[in-house]
Amino acid sequence: PLSALIDGQGHLVVGGCDVVELARRFGTPLYIVDELTLREGCRQYVEALERYYPGPSQVLYASKAWSNLAICALVHLCGLGIDAVSEGELQTALLAGVPGQQIYLHGNNKSEAEIRRAATVRATVVADNWLDLQTLQAAASDEPVRVMVRVTPGIDIHTHDYIRTGHVDSKFGFNLEDLGDVLAFLAATPQLVAVGLHAHIGSQSFELAPHADVAKLLLEWFAKAAALGLADFNELNVGGGLGIRYIEADDPPSIEQWVQTICEAVVQACEAQRLPLPKLLCEPGRSLVGPACITAYTVGSTKTVPGVRTYIAIDGGMSDNPRPITYGARYSAALANRMNDERSATVTVAGKHCESGDVLLRDVDLPPPEKGDCLVIFGTGAYNCSMASNYNRLGRPAAVVVGGGDSSLILRREDLDDLLRCDCLPLRLRT
Ligand code: LLP
Repeated sequence: PLSALIDGQGHLVVGGCDVVELARRFGTPLYIVDELTLREGCRQYVEALERYYPGPSQVLYASKAWSNLAICALVHLCGLGIDAVSEGELQTALLAGVPGQQIYLHGNNKSEAEIRRAATVRATVVADNWLDLQTLQAAASDEPVRVMVRVTPGIDIHTHDYIRTGHVDSKFGFNLEDLGDVLAFLAATPQLVAVGLHAHIGSQSFELAPHADVAKLLLEWFAKAAALGLADFNELNVGGGLGIRYIEADDPPSIEQWVQTICEAVVQACEAQRLPLPKLLCEPGRSLVGPACITAYTVGSTKTVPGVRTYIAIDGGMSDNPRPITYGARYSAALANRMNDERSATVTVAGKHCESGDVLLRDVDLPPPEKGDCLVIFGTGAYNCSMASNYNRLGRPAAVVVGGGDSSLILRREDLDDLLRCDCLPLRLRT
């Protein structure tokens, strides 16, 4: 999906910009976001909802995937609201120009400050547990607060254990047996405006049926909510979770298929139960920003263990992409300065961190990399920058957005001053 091509010099060109040139100009590691791909993903969600859902709908960008002013502003330009999960993400969305009314605040342990802030800016708070409801009740004394209830539906998907969230033994949300009490509490608490239900069952999922099942299961509660007199209870948020292709063998459904499956399930269930169509929300993260970004690195040292493998070291690693070491995630790569080089060697791409596990790609085929080559890894927009660290005191990379041959910085590279900004040296230790 990347708007990429190869130019006459055999260089990779993304968004009309020569990646080798970008690497030279902005330095490496560098996150390069293709504006067109990001916009296209947003458009696909919005249009599929318009096509397959006769009721109102709203797409929220799950900003945990990458919370950044420019990215939030871009997706908002495409008509999306924001799913935020901390005051930091909330603040980013607000400063990017997203109105509070289009922001939903999640979190399984929100602070009082986060809840108060969300209430002040008229964001919707997604209540995850009883403490949220109590804090909300206290915070809502003057102005009513919009509250959505997160449910653990007990529906499972096949993905990495760390990113499954819908199973009964999940730290998130109310289990179904509590939901009756929660709705009754909301019905008895007029300063909290219950607007609907939310569930998110996991991430990097290639399955469609479980997402449809979740929608159907949640809808069963809408009649009960109406019977309790919850007059504003008309939003159904099915979460995110659609997976993307990281390697050749991955075969995720399209955005359109995912949306269509869910819409059809909701429409059918509403007809069967004679319910009005709720406002349908979804909150994709990875499938929007993931495919829209590549990371450019510079190749440095190499080490060959004869008969075993060749390590190629790059100038980043687990600090800018913690997914391989955390989830065993796999990626694909290329040499941006030698796209037409047809030679092939099997190499292992290692980071520069002091850990043997700091390997971004194992046994991949590339033209034999040499010092100075510009190695790119594809599909790094989601949960890379947002999960980046300063491990080994490396500064976090810069990020640029490219489109129509232009590039603009959206994240400045951290320098040594940034790295030391929060350190304090007590007087008695100063020499
Ligand atoms: N909504 C909620 C409530 C979520 O918890 C998540 C992801 C999303 C939406 C967006 O899901 P997506 O469309 O991006 O799959 N760090 C992990 C992924 C963690 C996902 C957390 N929640 C990774 O790098 O794979």
